[in-house]
Amino acid sequence: MSIPFITPQEAAEVINNGDTVATSGFTASGTPKVVTVALAEKAKALHEKGEPFKVNLFTGASTNDHVDGELARADAVNFRVPYQSHKDSRKSLNAEGGIEYSDLHLSHLSQDMRYGFYGDVDVAIIEATEMSPNGEVILGAGMGMTPTIAQMAKKVIIEYSSYYHNSFRGFHDNYIPADPPHRREIPIYKPNDRIGSPILKIDPAKIVGVVPSNASESIAPFTAPDELTSQIGHNITQFLVNELRAGRIPKEFLPIQSGVGNVANAVLYGLGESADIPEFVMYTEVIQDAVMKLMEEGKCKFASTCALTFSDDAMLRFMDNIDFFRDKVVMRPGEISNHPEVVRRLGLIAMNTALEADIFGNVNSTHVLGTKMMNGIGGSADFSRNAYLSIFSCPSIQKGGKISTFVPMVSHLDHSEHSVKILATEQGVADLRGKSPRQKAETIIENCVHPMYKQLMWDYLKLANKNGGHTPHYLPAAFALHQAFMETGDMLNADFAKFGV
Ligand code: COA
Repeated sequence: MSIPFITPQEAAEVINNGDTVATSGFTASGTPKVVTVALAEKAKALHEKGEPFKVNLFTGASTNDHVDGELARADAVNFRVPYQSHKDSRKSLNAEGGIEYSDLHLSHLSQDMRYGFYGDVDVAIIEATEMSPNGEVILGAGMGMTPTIAQMAKKVIIEYSSYYHNSFRGFHDNYIPADPPHRREIPIYKPNDRIGSPILKIDPAKIVGVVPSNASESIAPFTAPDELTSQIGHNITQFLVNELRAGRIPKEFLPIQSGVGNVANAVLYGLGESADIPEFVMYTEVIQDAVMKLMEEGKCKFASTCALTFSDDAMLRFMDNIDFFRDKVVMRPGEISNHPEVVRRLGLIAMNTALEADIFGNVNSTHVLGTKMMNGIGGSADFSRNAYLSIFSCPSIQKGGKISTFVPMVSHLDHSEHSVKILATEQGVADLRGKSPRQKAETIIENCVHPMYKQLMWDYLKLANKNGGHTPHYLPAAFALHQAFMETGDMLNADFAKFGV
């Protein structure tokens, strides 16, 4: 069977108003680069003629401007799941009448789709870096949900990327677990175990065409660690060194998961620089530039990931030295890279970033002031709920001190105190293991809260303690810092005196 080459515009014509469109890739890498741009153009042209055109957009995780940016600006997305981090889609989903966004654990979506919770997949757009006429495909730099969407989609469009100057063959481990009641264990006992196939087989009868592309992932370099993020990295590193010395982490160390963002990148640099942290392996959902450097230096020996989230320059360096990395990296579908069973079995040290935390150890990763979505929960809870050690870190203040990241009560809850073992800021580390809510509050205020906000937090705790309870709270004052920010632009203007402290 011969599969035709088609233009991005011809591919966009295959997609109809109301369709569910699923894409390959994860945290930008491996996502489509040209078909979704043509789809946005099609939507704009139809809107100009007064005709409706919107799709439901399903991806592995965040995408690039070619997907979320283009489609959000074209007002071409009705429903979006499970994660995004683009400023234009963020703007739309936070506005009434904009994108309907369902923020979901990344490990859940593939299986939820197979279970039928989201209906049919009309079209899958899949980036391939190699392909044969019988539908055998080598994927690109990110896997996401590709095995599941390739299996479920009624029609498949292949974006054939010639951007990479070396082959990704051998890096992927395509695998779909059986669905209940037939599910068996996921047979990964070490981060480098392979359980699937390097090749993804797609029914060629479903492939409507192949669209050539030559675009990079367009991932910007991360900000180099500054004084603040380096201090957070140093504090976490010191904590882990002490755990090793105390024998609470085995001397061989444990596999590491590290989340997205600038703080996460800085923490990894911190681990790399410490002579007291032994060589380690990773079982994680993304590897960023810092991990590549750690591999080149010999500190990180192996990484199981869902995507290579490298900046464009780092990706070219990876390609130039691809043979060095061949036995050091495996890419898995998101439902396996983040699988709770494997996370628990391997005993991961999971390190993720909080937007806001409260003095009892509850964490908000997603909603600014309780309402405005930042990105999404991503894989953070897949890992933190099941990790050997779940660590959340963040700077203790934001916006020049007008925001304290530590508040009496989080304005939105993503990770409850039951899943959070350690909190870290540039001020220090709060170890919450084996502590009651009151003890947690004392250690968090003492070790993590910025000095500017300590007195306010002690005042709140005193007020809450008067009210009693196992987790002491005084609800009329629980959001006083948020309210002060909304009214005056500065949380420091919160005043508990009026509540009789
Ligand atoms: N209130 C208001 N704004 C806040 C805030 C708070 N409590 N905390 C952070 N911000 C703002 C910062 O000021 C900054 O704003 P700017 O872009 O205008 O400068 C922005 O949020 C990002 O903060 P930064 O400290 O640079 O964070 P980051 O790049 O390390 O990202 C998260 C932090 C929480 C947004 C990010 O890690 C995330 O989306 N996490 C959820 C998903 C996840 O954890 N995935 C992990 C599995 S891989």
